[in-house]
Amino acid sequence: MDDKIFVFDTTLRDGEQVPGCQLNTVEKIEVAKALEQLGVDIIEAGFPVSSPGDFQSVQEISKAVSNPVICGLTRAVEKDIEVAAQALEYAKRKRIHTGIGTSPYHIKFKLNSTPEQIIERAVAAVKYAKKFVEDVEFYAEDAGRTDNEYLARVVEAVIAAGATVVNIPDTTGYCLPAEFGAKIKFLKENVKGVHKAILSTHCHNDLGMATANSIEGILNGARQVEVTLNGIGERAGNTSLEEVVMAIRSHKDLPVYTDIKAKNIYKTSRLVSSLMRMPVQPNKAIVGRNAFAHSSGIHQDGVLKNRENYEIIDPKEVGIKESSIELTARSGRAALKHRVQLLGYKLSKKELDDLYGRFLELADKKKDIKDDDLEALLGNVSKKEKAVSLDLLQVVCGKSVVPMATVTLKINGEEQSATASGNGPIDAAFSAVKQIVKRKILLEEFLIQAITRGSDDMGKVHVQIENRGKMYYGFSASTDIITGAVEALVDAISKIL
Ligand code: KIV
Ligand code: ZN
Repeated sequence: MDDKIFVFDTTLRDGEQVPGCQLNTVEKIEVAKALEQLGVDIIEAGFPVSSPGDFQSVQEISKAVSNPVICGLTRAVEKDIEVAAQALEYAKRKRIHTGIGTSPYHIKFKLNSTPEQIIERAVAAVKYAKKFVEDVEFYAEDAGRTDNEYLARVVEAVIAAGATVVNIPDTTGYCLPAEFGAKIKFLKENVKGVHKAILSTHCHNDLGMATANSIEGILNGARQVEVTLNGIGERAGNTSLEEVVMAIRSHKDLPVYTDIKAKNIYKTSRLVSSLMRMPVQPNKAIVGRNAFAHSSGIHQDGVLKNRENYEIIDPKEVGIKESSIELTARSGRAALKHRVQLLGYKLSKKELDDLYGRFLELADKKKDIKDDDLEALLGNVSKKEKAVSLDLLQVVCGKSVVPMATVTLKINGEEQSATASGNGPIDAAFSAVKQIVKRKILLEEFLIQAITRGSDDMGKVHVQIENRGKMYYGFSASTDIITGAVEALVDAISKIL
């Protein structure tokens, strides 16, 4: 029988520590409910003593969520533990996560203490937490840089004091996979009573090793992984939930499993990204926009012959409708033929060869070739303008003024204008566009990314909208991000019309 790996999600605690990603209580409850749907075992809901807002969030999540264990973080300080216990009062299943630094850096420079005093404080904190809850997790902060012999003494002492889970964080993301795996193995082999507690990994991604380290931890006996959606977290982030879960699912030979409902991964990732206003990098494993997009000719040909030639995961498994074949100057005839067939054309070999030549010429000038470009190349709608284009955009915005926008669109050659207000110039302009097109348009994704760092930079804008259950994508790049945003929206709308 395979072993279960408990998934401990800390998106709402370690993930939320990222500057600019703070959520209010209502948003946190929404994320917590989505995490419950996703099937996580433990939700670390916050650090209750840190602020009244965090206290309230832990309390409200405790009321709103039934299945996962709700966990509150504390330092090895009595007041923290008392406040966490209060915040968890309404949780059906509760856990206090207490701990202290154990590396020479933390002992000397952060805590101005000695190794023996740290063990005493660790034991006292676990015993104190046990007065309030049965389930107590202890973290040995900076365990990644803690000497294994000393770490084993700490772990043994806290298990004897009643810790049910012992967390071995690589707080600074320093360890290499083999080193982290060896640390867990050492603890499994050298700590008396280790079988009485679950060992947990909590890896940060400073060297890009967080997922690899967590997997090595599992292979060496850890049975809980601490993770966040999209790998969000301090500095370079935490271990990403979707990567560990899918690594386990993809390697059927591993003697472990999780209870995560993989089909919900993508939508939960989108929710976290949009509520935290934290875009997912396009090449992010599993959930990035390009994770299932194929653009080079050889790969496209291979995927069209058999998806598994270049995909180890079926995108549907994580809730993504389908892989995409992007037409670029690197695409080959197979991808072009495939797309043209989807558009309803049947071409002879000669017609395809001719089209391919013209396609390459255009692709050298234009990064992405879209369906309307192809139609134009095919001659059907050559020289036809887009159904909708942006003719004029004027915005009023700034401090202490109500943002307003006036938009003029050309729809099938006819000019139509509208003016609207909003909570910012983009919101105002989007409202004006929606007034003109008079269609129910749901904005599913809106992403602006700077290409370099200067204030004269280009903003790349991606928009995804839904109309009558179908998705449409729009793209634009401009040094004026408001114009770029409206152009991307108009680009998407022109595909509906
Ligand atoms: O990275 C870390 O060490 C932590 C602990 C507080 C668990 O986040
Ligand atoms: Zn952490």
